[in-house]
Amino acid sequence: MLELDGKQILLGITGGIAAYKTAELVRLLRKSNAQVQVVMTRAATEFITPLTLQTLSGRTVRQDFFDPNDEASIGHIDLARWADLILIAPASADFMARLTHGLANDLLSTLCLATTAPIATAPAMNQQMWLNPATQANAKLLQERGIKLWGPDAGEQACGETGPGRMLEPSALLAHVVKQFSSQALAGRCVVLTAGPTQEPIDPVRFIGNRSSGKMGFALAHALVEAGAKVYLISGPVSLPTPPGVVRININTAAEMQQNVAEQVDKCDIFIACAAVADYRPEITASQKIKKNQDQIELILTRNPDILAEVAARAAPPFTVGFAAETERVTEYAEEKRKLKRVDMVAANLVGAKQGGFEKDENALTVLWEGGSKNLPMAKKENLARSLVTLITERYYAEKHPTKDS
Ligand code: PMT
Repeated sequence: MLELDGKQILLGITGGIAAYKTAELVRLLRKSNAQVQVVMTRAATEFITPLTLQTLSGRTVRQDFFDPNDEASIGHIDLARWADLILIAPASADFMARLTHGLANDLLSTLCLATTAPIATAPAMNQQMWLNPATQANAKLLQERGIKLWGPDAGEQACGETGPGRMLEPSALLAHVVKQFSSQALAGRCVVLTAGPTQEPIDPVRFIGNRSSGKMGFALAHALVEAGAKVYLISGPVSLPTPPGVVRININTAAEMQQNVAEQVDKCDIFIACAAVADYRPEITASQKIKKNQDQIELILTRNPDILAEVAARAAPPFTVGFAAETERVTEYAEEKRKLKRVDMVAANLVGAKQGGFEKDENALTVLWEGGSKNLPMAKKENLARSLVTLITERYYAEKHPTKDS
């Protein structure tokens, strides 16, 4: 499943130099599995050709509602009904003014009047035009009517001036579109999530660790924020940027992770243990670097606390999700872990194989809960995380937890 699976996006392009960036925007939207219908104003066709956008979108570009051929294939009212979202990018000062005054003097402005779909605009214009009180008043009125303003950005402009008025980059617009369609099903909920490896020191320079890169856990943190949750990410040492909106707490050892989980877990509704926590740590950490003057040395290992089992055993536990990393008999061992640790849900993955698991960009999961299971097939960890968050949300509300509205 991709972010925008089956979503129908009407991309309105108005006249401005930023129109050239819509080729990339169409490509990104299509890559996320959206259907894209481009509608251009006459001025827009001066900046980018309809043929380019037709080729990228796979659909005939619409320009004029007086064209009987286009109207015969799909009328403008049907087009207004077809859209799940109308995105005007770039939105010129002129188009924003026409939208504000409810004009219907071309196909795009008519569609905006005739639709019940949400409308978003990505303003793009000279900085002085953007700062002009007329444009500012139009922007304010459009927002008051529920029309979204994505941008503009500030910076160097095509006209040589510097200031506010640049259209947001296509990737930023894509992020807005994805967020627009996200369910916000976890709005008002708090999630504590562990991710990455732990490192158990042998001496000041050596440790016992594992191959976890943090990719799966960080993708989950991102997907949880998209679903509207407040996310506390307790992470072992990884080299990944913190997903926007996430509160990150860095730790090294299992003991540090245990302590930080204990400090955060009281306030959370859902606890997800995606970290690959070392099961054992050296009983003694040497204070100086161990010298290689013996043929063999012995390390005595002590069992680490099981953080997940401790959370699940609390008097009033949150909805608790564990992972299970197995090299064989994945479902059988994961089910044993689910019962032994008394967790609400386990997401099991095959590790040590060619595909999926540690370090890779893709993964597959078998998710188990009391009385049910679901296979989430091999997918990019970002998309897999979204599917898992959907499943967690369903189970969280289906079990003892009240719905948001009750
Ligand atoms: O980080 P990536 O490179 O993207 O890889 C992702 C992953 C393979 C690490 C991830 O998908 C995963 O499987 N995480 C759990 C790894 C693991 O430690 O599994 P386990 O079967 O050994 O542990 C079972 C559960 O108990 C896990 O939820 C684990 O976080 C938890 N646990 C384990 C030991 C311990 N002392 N405390 C714990 O809380």
